[in-house]
Amino acid sequence: NILIKQLFRETPQFLNQAILVSGWARTIRDSKSFGFIELNDGSFFRNLQIVFDDSLPNFAEVAKLGVGSALTVEGNLVESPGAKQPFELKATRITVEGVSAPDYPLQKKRHSFEFLRTIAHLRPRTNTFAAVFRIRSLAAYAIHQFFQERNFVYVHTPLITGSDCEGAGEMFRVTTLDPANPPRNERGEVDYSQDFFGKETNLTVSGQLNGETYCMAFRNIYTFGPTFRAENSNTARHAAEFWMIEPEIAFAELRDNMDLAEAMIKYVINYCLENAPEEMEFFNNMIDKDLFQRLHNVVSSEFAHVTYTEAIEILQKNKDQFEYPVDWGSDLQTEHERYLTEQIFKKPVFVTDYPKEIKAFYMRLNDDDKTVAAMDLLVPGVGEIIGGSQREERYDVLERRLDELGLHKADYWWYMDLRKYGGTKHAGYGLGFERLIMYLTGMANIRDVIAYPRTVRTAEF
Ligand code: 4AD
Ligand code: MG
Repeated sequence: NILIKQLFRETPQFLNQAILVSGWARTIRDSKSFGFIELNDGSFFRNLQIVFDDSLPNFAEVAKLGVGSALTVEGNLVESPGAKQPFELKATRITVEGVSAPDYPLQKKRHSFEFLRTIAHLRPRTNTFAAVFRIRSLAAYAIHQFFQERNFVYVHTPLITGSDCEGAGEMFRVTTLDPANPPRNERGEVDYSQDFFGKETNLTVSGQLNGETYCMAFRNIYTFGPTFRAENSNTARHAAEFWMIEPEIAFAELRDNMDLAEAMIKYVINYCLENAPEEMEFFNNMIDKDLFQRLHNVVSSEFAHVTYTEAIEILQKNKDQFEYPVDWGSDLQTEHERYLTEQIFKKPVFVTDYPKEIKAFYMRLNDDDKTVAAMDLLVPGVGEIIGGSQREERYDVLERRLDELGLHKADYWWYMDLRKYGGTKHAGYGLGFERLIMYLTGMANIRDVIAYPRTVRTAEF
C-alpha cells in the first residue's frame, strides 16, 4: 500500500504504473458519466486526485458518496492535464471501505480552531491539525535522536509519586479512598494508611527527582513523558496534562546545561525544517508569517544570557508598561518574559540566577546566599519554554534548604542519599513539549498542539 506522500516525493517511480492507495475523500464531484475525488491519507498535505467514470461497476454508488468516506482505489497514475496537480489516478476499481454520513462536520470550508476543539476526534483530518500532529511526532523523534546520539539513557520515571518536585502544591491527588466518606483517625484526619499505597500520592509534576537518581548511575539521562499540574490558570500556554523532556547531566554545571538546551532546540528546529519542509512552509504561510525568519535566526545565532538581577534592571526602566510590579524578588510574569525576549533581546534568552525564594528547593545555592543557579529559557512568541538548574549537591546545604522551606526531610531520604553516596555536581532542565511545538509551528494556543487537551473544566474525549 503506497502513501500519497511517496507519490509526490518519488513521482517518476510511480508514473504510468498500476497502484493502490487508501484514504478519505476530501471532496467528491461528479457529472453524468465521470467524477473527481480528492483523496487524503494523512501522510501529506496534498490530496491525490482520483478520476473515475461509469466504466466502474459501482459508479453510481461512488458518485453519491459523502465527504469523509473511506476508500481504497486501484488505478493508473498518469500525468495530469490540469495545472493544479502534477498527476492523477485513473481509477480501475474503487472499494468503498466506509461511507460517511451527510452530517459530517468537516465540509470544505474554513473552520475556526475554537470550533475544531469541540470535535477534537475529527480535527486531525484537517490540513492544519494533520500538519501539527505530524510535526509533533517528528519533533519527538528528533528529541530522542538528539539524546540517543549523545549516549543519554532514556529513563521512564513514575507517574504516581509521593513527592512534590516543584513544591508548588499543584498536584492531582491519586486515591482509592471514598472521597465522600474517607476513613479517619482519632484526631479526625483522613487516614491514608488505608489508601491503596498506604500514603498520600499524586500524579507527578516532574520526573526530575527520580531522574536525578539515574543520572547518578548513568551520567547522562533523559525522560520524556506526561506530567500533570492542577494549575488553575486558564491561559493559552498552560495545560493540566502536558509532556516534558527532562535531561539530567552529571559532572556538569549550569553553563553545560544551557549549552545542551541550546543545542537541543537548534537540533529539533533543523530536523523539522529538513524533514518536514512542506509542513513548515504551511505554518509559515498560513499560521505565522514570521516563522521562517524567526527559526532561521534562532539556528544561526547564539542565544542571549542575562541574570535575573540584570533583567529586573532592564524591566524597571520600562516599568510603566507593565501591569505587574518588577521588583527584585518578585517572579517574572508572562508580560515581563515576553518583553525581554521579544523587545529587548529579540531572540531566545536564558535568564539565570533567580532569588532562592521564588525557586524550588533543589536548586544550587550561589555564593551570594541569595540566588540559585537556575536557568529559564524564554523565547519570542511563547515565553518560558524551559526551566532548569544546577542541583544542590551539598548534603548540608540541601538539608538546610528543606528545613527553611518547611519541607518534610523524611520524605526526601532517598534523594538525600544521592548526596551521601558519591554525589557530584549535576544539572538538568525540563522542556515543555507543547510549548516547543507552539514555537515550531506558530500555533498560538496549547489546546491546538496536544491531541486531547486537558485544561480547567475541559477533559472531554
Ligand atoms: O519550570 P518547570 O516547572 O520545571 C520543572 O518542572 C523542573 N523540575 C524541570 C527540571 O529541571 N527537570 O517546568 C518545565 C517546563 C516549563 O518551562 C514549561 O515549558 C513547561 O514545563 N510547563 C508547562 N507546559 C504546559 N502547561 C503547564 N501547565 C506547564 N507547566 C510547566
Ligand atoms: Mg518554570
